[in-house]
Amino acid sequence: MFHNIDFDSIDLTQAPPAKEPQRQYYFIAKCRQYIKAESGRLGRSLTANVTTFGCQMNARDSEKLTGVLECAGYSMTDSEEADLVIYNTCTVRDNANQRVYGRLGFLNSLKKKNPQMKIALCGCMMQEEAVIEKIKKSYRFVDLIFGTHNIFRFAELLCTMFESGRPVIDIWQGTEQIVEDLPVERKYPFKSGINIMFGCNNFCSYCIVPYVRGRERSRSPEDILKEIKTLAADGVVEVMLLGQNVNSYGKNLENPVSFADLLREVEKIEGIERIRFMTSHPKDLSDELIQVMKQSKKICRHLHLPLQSGSTRILQAMNRRYTKEQYLALAEKIRKEIPDIAITTDIIVGFPGETMEDIEETIDVVNKVQYDNAFTFIYSKRTGTPAASMPNQVPSDIVKEGFDRLLKTVQDTAKTRTALLEGKTLPALAEEINAQDNTLITGRLSNNTIVHFPGAPSLIGKIVNVRLKECHGFYFLGEIADSPAAK
Ligand code: 5AD
Ligand code: SF4
Repeated sequence: MFHNIDFDSIDLTQAPPAKEPQRQYYFIAKCRQYIKAESGRLGRSLTANVTTFGCQMNARDSEKLTGVLECAGYSMTDSEEADLVIYNTCTVRDNANQRVYGRLGFLNSLKKKNPQMKIALCGCMMQEEAVIEKIKKSYRFVDLIFGTHNIFRFAELLCTMFESGRPVIDIWQGTEQIVEDLPVERKYPFKSGINIMFGCNNFCSYCIVPYVRGRERSRSPEDILKEIKTLAADGVVEVMLLGQNVNSYGKNLENPVSFADLLREVEKIEGIERIRFMTSHPKDLSDELIQVMKQSKKICRHLHLPLQSGSTRILQAMNRRYTKEQYLALAEKIRKEIPDIAITTDIIVGFPGETMEDIEETIDVVNKVQYDNAFTFIYSKRTGTPAASMPNQVPSDIVKEGFDRLLKTVQDTAKTRTALLEGKTLPALAEEINAQDNTLITGRLSNNTIVHFPGAPSLIGKIVNVRLKECHGFYFLGEIADSPAAK
């Protein structure tokens, strides 16, 4: 909850302030009035549901949406049978879009049962013109649509929707603004994502992100550190620094700082025990960063280093700006400097022009790097990206054969890597009660591996030493150890 603002003392007879975030506080106060009146009329509290598609960035944005909704007076629910449902969408691959369209049909059936229900859509998919046209034509029951650049105006947009009584659509093409100090409600009390930058300047030729999230903008180190200190004071022990390309953090600030500089400062914050970050671009990963990670007691032993392809020819067509050999040299250097680190990756199969020989090159990299985990994706054509208009889109039988072979290699290497830890005792952050067996706690090692172990719910949020008894492919069954953990 957002404790430091008394929304009910905001004078709504005045015009809304021009300055942010005060303007949004004003609209939250206005929404509160509306929601109070509605719940008085219905004789019950109003419920809201936020459903997230896509990446960690979207998950963090959803926490911001939830923060506003709670301050406005909604009771949050996991069920989509709610008075307000908002889908925070993803468009990185077409299957994410198709899932949204499929579920919108279901929402419409709920709305027929509860006509005062409001349906809102936001996130990356909404930044695409063709999507908006389709929703306007075929999904006319949607009440509010906004995009990635004006999410900070959520309270104001909600208010406009309530007051106008008609659908509101507001999509911006970009923004320079980063609005601080808006409400946010964390999903986990003990860990939190923190945006350190927004957007991306890399324009990998298959990727829609730069078009829907805009150009790279870094938050100031002061704002980031202030937020993390507040989180630490509120019981957060683990932070995940979020950006599309964290290695280029700070380059465009008035007083440039490096990502390694930022990490050194985060390390000093008392109460924070674990630091993670996502995502690193191999072309920008500096020796300075490797050294900071190596020396750190808090930065987790995990690096997500997207490969995308192991073929230099395809990497060039993807505009990744590294070769197979450069990537391998980087991975080798990291493993040499930090031997206990887990390296994970993203790989795309079926990029235009890709042949079985190219896929063999990718499999070769997987065998050499020995990834601890890899996310493999089938190439998805995104309208407006350079790759979409490239000739030689790959026939689906080649894609399938390549994908299956790659997946097998990835799974075999990941299992081998995970098994290396069997018998060791390592610290794990207890994160939740196991969904299948409530006598077990699910924890996470510094290197991101999951371990399930018998334990009490009171352990959640604490770091405990766990002996990794049995390896089950990608995870462990373990037990709390009395003896101290080896580092
Ligand atoms: N098709 C398939 N996968 C994609 N990714 C990004 N764009 C596409 C696309 N058009 C993958 C990349 C990226 C991850 C987040 O999504 O592997 O690292
Ligand atoms: Fe997309 Fe490349 Fe930017 Fe990642 S670095 S978001 S893959 S354009």
